[in-house]
Amino acid sequence: MADLMTVRDTDVAEICGGFGNDPHRLLDILLTIQRQNHWISPQAMTEVAACVGLTRIEVEGTASFYSFLSLTPKGRVSIRLCDDIIDRHAGFAAVVAVFEAELGIKLGQTSADGQFSLDQTPCIGMCDQAPAAMVNEVILTKLTVDRAREVARSLQSGQRPEVLVSAEFEPLTPYQRVVAAVDNNIRQTGAVLLGPVPRDEGLRKAVEMAPEAIIETIRASGLRGCGGAGFTTGAKWRFAANETAAKRFVLCNADEGEPGTFKDRVLLTERPDLLIEGMTIAARAVGAAEGLIYLRGEYVYLRDHLLSVLAARREAGLLGQSILGIQGFDFDVRLQMGAGAYICGEEGALISSCEGLPGTPKTRPPFPVTRGYLGFPTVVNNVETFSHAARILDKGAAWFHAIGTEGSHGTKLFCVSGDCVWPGVYELPYGLTVMELLALSGAEDAAAVQVGGPSGTMIGRDSFHRKLSFDDLATGGAVIVFNGTRNILEIVEYYLSFFVHESCGYCTPCRVGNVFLQKAIQKFRGGFAGAEDIEYLKDLSATIIETSRCGLGTTSPNPVLTTLANFPLVYSAVRRESEDGMLAAFDIQSAISNARGIAHRRSYIFDRDFTK
Ligand SMILES: Cc1cc2nc3c(=O)[nH]c(=O)nc-3n(C[C@H](O)[C@H](O)[C@H](O)COP(=O)(O)O)c2cc1C
Ligand code: SF4
Repeated sequence: MADLMTVRDTDVAEICGGFGNDPHRLLDILLTIQRQNHWISPQAMTEVAACVGLTRIEVEGTASFYSFLSLTPKGRVSIRLCDDIIDRHAGFAAVVAVFEAELGIKLGQTSADGQFSLDQTPCIGMCDQAPAAMVNEVILTKLTVDRAREVARSLQSGQRPEVLVSAEFEPLTPYQRVVAAVDNNIRQTGAVLLGPVPRDEGLRKAVEMAPEAIIETIRASGLRGCGGAGFTTGAKWRFAANETAAKRFVLCNADEGEPGTFKDRVLLTERPDLLIEGMTIAARAVGAAEGLIYLRGEYVYLRDHLLSVLAARREAGLLGQSILGIQGFDFDVRLQMGAGAYICGEEGALISSCEGLPGTPKTRPPFPVTRGYLGFPTVVNNVETFSHAARILDKGAAWFHAIGTEGSHGTKLFCVSGDCVWPGVYELPYGLTVMELLALSGAEDAAAVQVGGPSGTMIGRDSFHRKLSFDDLATGGAVIVFNGTRNILEIVEYYLSFFVHESCGYCTPCRVGNVFLQKAIQKFRGGFAGAEDIEYLKDLSATIIETSRCGLGTTSPNPVLTTLANFPLVYSAVRRESEDGMLAAFDIQSAISNARGIAHRRSYIFDRDFTK
């Protein structure tokens, strides 16, 4: 251990220098140290602080926030097994047992010789090919007991993780490495994104237009954000363009952390040029010269592929100075790696993370379009949104507007996973029914569908006629299928544990309330809950929703509320007969009524229909 601390920490100054000793590049610096040393030692943090001009506490604040950074030594080979509910249903426990037996360590442990760490990690974006794992920067999918044993033994024999993807890994191009490791599982191509796409036609048209005309085209197309919230993209670009500022930024949200969502993974693999084309068009529209792609740490296997695409675009005059030969049109993009924190998908937290800070959401307003990255107006859009924008500039607003429904225009990438024959990505116009998507994916015996991931809505068969669109059932992409053998309360409890794990901890209702919610669900699962516990679930959920600062907290009770509304029998079936009144004694709604009045917030629980 002394060897690790004394010899390798001498590289810290060099690493910091490589990032210009810039405190805003703290996350990159710490990720580099983690990769080299397998942990961030106290000595390293002190050195980093001195190099970049931060306090030691500030460095430790960032280092301790992200799950891919470790303040204790980790193995040279870090094995992270995805423990998402889909992986659990697909054999996670058996895979864990093999690794534990072969490596002689339990989950959460590092081997005594410092060779291996074994951990579980939330959804790594491979639900269509579960069970999956990350081994250092390599993704392994469709793990079976036999494959897990083969992997463990190969690693123990000293083979590099890359060999597990291909015996001939080195000669492969960055793109070939990506597709050798991970299947795209594109099941349905559509007119906008996954069908034939001409290279940079949107950008060529955009440079002939005034910035305001670009924004107006996006507005007229009806494009809405594809990251979940569905904000009107044209309006967002206009807000940023109208701000008086010395500079502006364009930021692509490629954090894709919502369990069950993996569409951006496919776009980043197959359509990276289209995404960067969309970012470049946004830059032209709002007057930005710099952009960032924030790539989730779990997608580090895509890093070299994206860097090579960025380099090729610079070479082709599509990024950098005088894009397409147009004097004054300068724009370049930097890739910012994340480090294993779902909350960094929230745009404020994403910006914090890009600034080298812990990924905690920012207070809104001001919104990023006014005060975003480094305090400048910033357009934050999802990967799919930018890709759509590029196609709209090529094909026109009317073409895009005509696809879909009245309130939801264009196509959408749906990520189907779980109990179906053909999990994968389906590009389809908004407005198809859940039933139609289930039929396409071979999921006719579905009993429940989680639309929109854990923060979305769980529906039963009586709602399968509903439409996937902003007007009815909205989703950022995830459509997770469960058949009749699955335990709804197990799924609810898992999703709550996910939110407990991923809460940034800033607000007590989110940090603590979700733990209480999880305990209450455990009470139901144990058969100890009574009628009063239903009220407790509703009250506590309302409190978390009303008093949380960001979208994680305000949606985290959705697994409880939507299953209470749509699967009430699941709760009544496991209720005990007698009541002890213990939990009903504290009326949490009354307790917060004063605070609600001061903040002018409504009581959600009584105003909202959670079957919707
Ligand atoms: C907890 C949380 C996680 C989020 N994760 C993502 C994400 O992974 N990708 C994404 O594009 N948007 C995510 N969002 C939404 C972003 O905050 C933001 O609305 C989005 O990036 C805007 O882009 P769009 O308008 O193109 O959708 C998340 C929001 C919350 C509250
Ligand atoms: S709601 Fe949760 S995730 Fe959001 S700021 Fe509060 S504690 Fe953090």
